Amino acid sequence: MKSKTSKESLTINTELVLPNDTNVLGNLMGGRLLHWMDICSAISAHRHCGRIVVTASVNNVSFNQPIKLGEIVTMHAKVSRAFTSSMEVFIDVWVENNNTGERKKCNEAIYTFVAVDQLGNPINVPECIAETEEEKKDLMAHYAEGNLH
Ligand SMILES: CC(C)(COP(=O)(O)OP(=O)(O)OC[C@H]1O[C@@H](n2cnc3c(N)ncnc32)[C@H](O)[C@@H]1OP(=O)(O)O)[C@@H](O)C(=O)NCCC(=O)NCCS
Repeated sequence: MKSKTSKESLTINTELVLPNDTNVLGNLMGGRLLHWMDICSAISAHRHCGRIVVTASVNNVSFNQPIKLGEIVTMHAKVSRAFTSSMEVFIDVWVENNNTGERKKCNEAIYTFVAVDQLGNPINVPECIAETEEEKKDLMAHYAEGNLH
């Protein structure tokens, strides 16, 4: 099975926060953001292994600040590590103010996906080659040490 680099799985998704995505304060609902993040991360995991993937777990999610109606949300997801059948995907979320164009990072998470066959049984995935220092970081250990970013 041919190894792949982390950057080969890069997946970017951009969404506009519409009224139906918000709570009564006019801020993006957390569940809607998690849904967008799940899809973006799943596509990244699929690009790595080329198989059906299922979400096994979600870690280190935090909602640091409200995202407002009309703001533009951009997600960047990449496979950071691959094991036997599972893949760790790191995703970060940027928000762009549609009046000023200012962009700020407002969220990040680590998803784990498992590649499965048509019957839902786990199957092997390619090795993931980390190239940059950021990609080489053991993200779970990094967070376990109490680092937030
Ligand atoms: C994920 C799933 C395929 C694992 O199947 P399983 O029979 O438990 O498989 P195994 O115990 O052999 O584990 C397979 C891999 O999954 C990983 N895994 C299993 N449960 C996990 C969890 N909760 N978190 C992270 N990884 C998990 C294992 O570490 C293993 O990884 P590896 O092969 O890289 O070493 C199975 O639990 C499943 O189908 N879950 C539901 C997925 C789903 O429907 N997601 C949508 C949420 S509604």
